[in-house]
Amino acid sequence: MLKEIGIFEEYGSLINALRGRGALLITGVEKPNPMTIGWATLGVIWGKPVMTVLVRPSRHSFFLINSHEEFVVAVPPADMAKQLAFCGTRSGRDHDKFVECSFTKESGVKVKVPHIIECPIHYECRIIHKNNVEANRLDPAIPMQYYPNGDFHTIYYGEVLGVFKR
Ligand SMILES: Cc1cc2nc3c(=O)[nH]c(=O)nc-3n(C[C@H](O)[C@H](O)[C@H](O)COP(=O)(O)O)c2cc1C
Repeated sequence: MLKEIGIFEEYGSLINALRGRGALLITGVEKPNPMTIGWATLGVIWGKPVMTVLVRPSRHSFFLINSHEEFVVAVPPADMAKQLAFCGTRSGRDHDKFVECSFTKESGVKVKVPHIIECPIHYECRIIHKNNVEANRLDPAIPMQYYPNGDFHTIYYGEVLGVFKR
């Protein structure tokens, strides 16, 4: 059964996923697409709970996240390593990752982007700001190996509308 929980209640699970094999960023409505992410933050900005995610322009997810005002971040269960590797190396341009990973879609509660039933925790977010990582503002100590092709992330700030656990 799906239950709405406190915004920061499963913070530890989110961080463990990001620091481990990754979480799943789900974008798109008509043809939703899960992408493995390792970079995200959860905190408070403008008096609201906000999740930021960083997406490179080369990703199919970049096209999808710019086509809708919403995204979902799913925290995977411990036994999802294979699917996380797949969703982190294959593009939704060439693969239907929902089908190929045998993920089951379920409608979002407050957003149009769906959940993945096999994942226990979902953060539903509405984009309230975005900006780009800029080379000339980045600490020179951060290795430019992160950006060999100038594929600088866009940072999306999503107001967390709800967190759901099943
Ligand atoms: C553990 C892991 C973490 C990743 N984190 C990010 C991330 O935070 N941002 C990003 O743009 N790509 C990240 N990637 C790469 C994308 O998941 C990968 O390029 C994916 O194939 C893009 O899928 P798409 O084209 O369907 O959007 C990560 C990959 C892995 C394996």
